[in-house]
Amino acid sequence: MQFFLDTANLESIKKYASWGVVDGVTTNPSLIAKEGVSLESRIKEITEVVDGPISSEVIATDYDGMISQAREYVKWHKNIYIKLPMTEDGLRACKTLSSEGIHTNVTLVFSPGQALLAAKAGATLVSPFIGRLDDISHEGMELIAEIVEMYTNYGIETKVLVASIRHPRHVIDAARIGADIATMPPEVLDKLINHPLTDKGLEKFLADWEKVKDLQ
Ligand code: G3P
Repeated sequence: MQFFLDTANLESIKKYASWGVVDGVTTNPSLIAKEGVSLESRIKEITEVVDGPISSEVIATDYDGMISQAREYVKWHKNIYIKLPMTEDGLRACKTLSSEGIHTNVTLVFSPGQALLAAKAGATLVSPFIGRLDDISHEGMELIAEIVEMYTNYGIETKVLVASIRHPRHVIDAARIGADIATMPPEVLDKLINHPLTDKGLEKFLADWEKVKDLQ
């Protein structure tokens, strides 16, 4: 399973990239706004830190606007993936861009039917939002299982990028289902590495070592 960071915070991206476990980065207009930076400059900065897919989302809502923004974004770096909303225009733009070999990430996916349509439009990645489904008392993880099953049935190449991840259990359950990628906020990566028994175990090893370290 690939791990992507779902943030536009450059310091976080540098920190977790240094762990050697970050395969890509996803951003969205809200994450860029949170940093108070320009989309172009931040995306370019991210490409210098992570050598993998970097999703940059279009702001236009009409087909022509999406295509023109996408053509601009792909000039920034070879690793740019164009994030498009799951709308009629987004789907049309996905078909056009993917037929030209431009990588796409269809976002705001909340149903299996939307995921099938994204795949048919040639999306490189599909982003089902599980946390937001959980928030309204649906089972976000069931959506992941349905999409993985459907894509497996037909050998569909679109990769399932699990988004709106809120905690480590989401990552583990998505991995057990066989989703291709989990994109997570930095806090979730922190929670994945930490375990109280690891800390306690290390403390004991070091305390025991103190007793014998000077022996010849
Ligand atoms: O980047 C898309 C998605 O991961 C957003 O997550 O937490 O805002 O629902 P969230």
